[in-house]
Amino acid sequence: MTLAELENAKAESLKEIAAANDAAAVEALRVKYVGRNGSIPALIKAMKGVPKEERPAFGKAVQAWRAEVEAALAAKGAGSSGEKAVDADLTLPGRWWGLGVKHPLSRVIEETAAIFGRLGFTVADGPELETKFNNFTALNTPAHHPSMDRSDTFWFGEDCLLRTQTSPVQIRTMMANKPPIRVICPGRTYRRDTTDATHSANFHQIEGLYVDTKPVSLADLKSVLAYFAKEMMGDGVTVRFRPHFFPFTEPSVEVDFTCHVCKGKGCNVCKQSGWIEVAGAGMVDPRVFGHVGYDAEKVSGYAFGFGVERIAMIKYGIPDIRWLYENDVRFLSQLA
Ligand code: PHE
Repeated sequence: MTLAELENAKAESLKEIAAANDAAAVEALRVKYVGRNGSIPALIKAMKGVPKEERPAFGKAVQAWRAEVEAALAAKGAGSSGEKAVDADLTLPGRWWGLGVKHPLSRVIEETAAIFGRLGFTVADGPELETKFNNFTALNTPAHHPSMDRSDTFWFGEDCLLRTQTSPVQIRTMMANKPPIRVICPGRTYRRDTTDATHSANFHQIEGLYVDTKPVSLADLKSVLAYFAKEMMGDGVTVRFRPHFFPFTEPSVEVDFTCHVCKGKGCNVCKQSGWIEVAGAGMVDPRVFGHVGYDAEKVSGYAFGFGVERIAMIKYGIPDIRWLYENDVRFLSQLA
């Protein structure tokens, strides 16, 4: 195309735009001249074929053409190049895309941190890949305890494993700090369990640990857990302790909340007992203090460990643990 031909084409295009009398015609001309495959971009692409000495003048003319066409299109109500002309009705209500919601497990963890925060507990963290020492030995677990078995625990060699509980964070926290210690430790835990409605190979726990140089008693533990139960589940909930065994606490208890569904009367959810097990707990065993270099004569404390899924299932009435991992928005959005 010569410069003269270009000027003719330009005049022609401006005439066409001036004559366009509806949005569709304007849009068609926008596509024809400045759209991705329009004639002006095509000219720019073909610039290499123009003799070198003519190129600057030709380039200037093409740019001028483009600017004039865009101005003419804009005057006719088209968007600038690349945008479509839209007939927008600004009185229509906007489209609702929905708000995201927090996952039930995140909610339980955050609420737990807030409740214990009011009691002076801070949040501690530890790695999911742990040593045998932190996960078992320092927690006074005998060398041949069944929980160490290859069929129960995900091992990586002799000394490395995916933590089976959040209790190793107790060890890390005590090794790095002096009493008094008040921490909760939420996190992922792993066991070789077959997945079903109440089991998952990867689940979450929240560990709690209080150690002080003043005497700490089982009554302190119970009062803290009773406060937590009421804050988390509502006023009607009471707590009971059942004697149990854990290698790292003595005495040890299992902690039950009254069933939220039947309020303790007995129903299918609580298997007619009126109670639901939510945690393991107890007074820190003196041998654990020995492993972290504390003087067991001078310090005492309690520890507890909750299942986060268990609390979420009770609190929100979720019958199947797998729903917590499927990320089905129909399920998740119910908590909005
Ligand atoms: N770690 C124990 C478990 O996973 C729970 C627990 C924590 C018990 C702290 C006592 C003290 O079953």
